[in-house]
Order: sequence, then structure tokens, then C-alpha cells
Amino acid sequence: MKVLITGAAGFLGRRLANKLLRLGKLRNAAGVEEIMARLVLLDIVPVEGFSDPRVSVVSVDLADPQVLNRVVDAETASIFHLAAVVSSQAEADFDLGMRVNLDAARLLFETCRRLGHCPRVVFTSSVAVYGGDLPEVVQDDTALNPKSSYGIQKAIGELLLSDYSRRGFIDGRCLRLPTISVRPGKPNKAASSFASGIIREPLNNEETVCPVTADTRLWLLSPRQAVDSLVFGHELVAEAFALNRVLNLPGVSVTVGEMVETLGRISGQAAVSKIRWESDPVVQRIIGSWPGSWDMTRALALGFKGDRDFDSIVQAYIADDLNGAR
Ligand SMILES: NC(=O)c1ccc[n+]([C@@H]2O[C@H](COP(=O)([O-])OP(=O)(O)OC[C@H]3O[C@@H](n4cnc5c(N)ncnc54)[C@H](O)[C@@H]3O)[C@@H](O)[C@H]2O)c1
Repeated sequence: MKVLITGAAGFLGRRLANKLLRLGKLRNAAGVEEIMARLVLLDIVPVEGFSDPRVSVVSVDLADPQVLNRVVDAETASIFHLAAVVSSQAEADFDLGMRVNLDAARLLFETCRRLGHCPRVVFTSSVAVYGGDLPEVVQDDTALNPKSSYGIQKAIGELLLSDYSRRGFIDGRCLRLPTISVRPGKPNKAASSFASGIIREPLNNEETVCPVTADTRLWLLSPRQAVDSLVFGHELVAEAFALNRVLNLPGVSVTVGEMVETLGRISGQAAVSKIRWESDPVVQRIIGSWPGSWDMTRALALGFKGDRDFDSIVQAYIADDLNGAR
């Protein structure tokens, strides 16, 4: 079978590609395990570092209407659609956010519809679809009221995926990811970038800025569990999503102050002193509009797993990205 990952040069895309290559097989439309003969890694920037003969790299703009006709064909049994412009970037550049987060998703779904082979499509949505006056624990039926362009674009993508699935054009599964922490590498343009930076930079003995208050509550998931969930969500039978194609993934609810306490417990006060608290009203407003917790009953009943607590998230980062060394 042929599998496509969009946004494959990104943080989760690269990890997902490595995981799929290790697994070597996925369930096809009939629910039967099939060898993954080809993995297409698409991104607007070159996807580097994959020498596996099953991999082909395509460096194109997904929002270009000509592109998908060349990349997706009736052999493309599964698509993981991860390409996106992240939250602060979509807020700063409205046109870019609409083009990548919304127009490209619709183009992708339309391409599948035209081909008529109903591929499995896993789409990554976000906590940012919620906003406004939220209950302490968001429920499945809590209304979507996004307070950022990114959140709006993801929410529309969710609805499109649901309708294209209802009509049998795709077999879509939309997984709402909590904020992913701890993300390795450099800070990015996501409003939630600090949720990794306040752990990652001090562990690397570098200074960092925390733009939100210590009582700001976040809903977090480790990269390890996020990637496992993308694969798990793909493997479930379509009937598992019969009532609702959109699913809130499990997460861990912590305040920023509790995250810093964890850092202190694991790496000492010298690490904590690397954090400078400098409020950024734009980031505080965006992050403050996101839920700090949501009900996980449905995801857990389907077999999805989250992290035990924030300590285990930091330990996973140390094991996976710092080779076990703090
Ligand atoms: N990381 C998180 O905390 C988080 C939380 C919730 C949801 N998500 C969602 O998960 C997905 C993956 O997130 P990530 O953290 O890996 O993001 P990322 O920014 O690391 O990766 C996104 C990738 O999309 C690519 N891209 C952007 N525009 C493109 C275009 N026009 N054509 C082709 N590729 C394009 C980028 O080059 C990038 O490599 C995204 O859809 C994101 O919205 C992430």
C-alpha cells in the first residue's frame, strides 16, 4: 500500500514517518494488515534524512491546486494530513493561514473525492478549536468557539472531514491533539511554543522566557504518545468513529507553575532560574482561551492512551531526545 504524510518535514511528521517505517504495515480499507510498500513524504520544505527505499520525498506547496493531482492517486490508501501553519503564524498572516490550514485541506479532500477510492485520512486538529467561556473540563458536546484564526481554520477542517466521510468520499479520522510538550529543537511560531521551551531550554542550560502567568493551565501530550495515537487512530475500524469523526485525545492537565515545579524536581533550582517571566498579552490571550482539560472517556474507551503525568512527559523527553542525559 502507498501512504502519504503531508507536513512530513515537521516535528510530528518526521516522527510519524520513522514510526511507520519501523512498523512496515498498516490496515487497509478492508481492515486487513498490508505491507507499506511506499511512503510519500510531502512538505513545502525538503524532508531530509530518509534513505529508506520505500520513501519518496516531494517538496511542494500543498495549497497549489496542481500539486495534489500529481501526488495522490488511487494507490494512496492512507493519508496523514499534518501540514499546517501554526497558531501565532496563522494569527499574524491571515491569508497564509487560510491557504494552508483550510484551502489545502479542502483540496486534499476534493482530490480523494474525485479519485473515488475512499482513503483513510487522519487529520490533526487542536485544543484551539475551543475558546471563550469554557467549563473547567471540556465535554464532547462543548460548543466550538475558537478565538484564533488557526482555531477557526482547524474547526472548519474538522467539519469538512466529517462531511466528506459521511458522504463516503474519504474515511476520515480527526484527532484533536492537546499541546505537544516537550518538543525538541528550536522555538517555533506556535503560541504554545513556551510549553516546550520552559523545559527544553533550562535542561540544555539555556535561558528562556515564559510569556504567560504561572496559574495558566495547559492540556499536554508527549510527542511519543501523540505519534502512537495518530497510528492507533488510523488502525481503528471506521465504525469506531460512526457517531463522530472527531475525537479529543487524552492529555495531562497542568499549570505552568506545576510544570516548572517538575523541572525543579528533575533538574534542580539552577534549571528553574533559567526561566525569565515576561508577560506577552497576545500569547496569554490565545493560550488562556484554550481548555486546560477535557473529558477523555470516549478516547480511553476506544483504547487511546495518554501520559501518566507531567513528570513522565519530561522523562520521556530526556529518554527520547537527550539520550537519557539531563
Ligand atoms: N505540536 C503541537 O503542539 C500541535 C498541537 C495540536 C495540533 N497540532 C497539529 O499537528 C500537525 C503537526 O504539527 P507539528 O507540530 O508537527 O507542526 P510543524 O510546524 O512542525 O509541521 C508542519 C509542517 O507543515 C509544513 N507546511 C506548511 N505549509 C505547507 C504547505 N503549503 N505545503 C506543504 N507543507 C506545508 C511545514 O513546512 C511543516 O514542516 C499540525 O497540523 C498542527 O496544527 C500540533
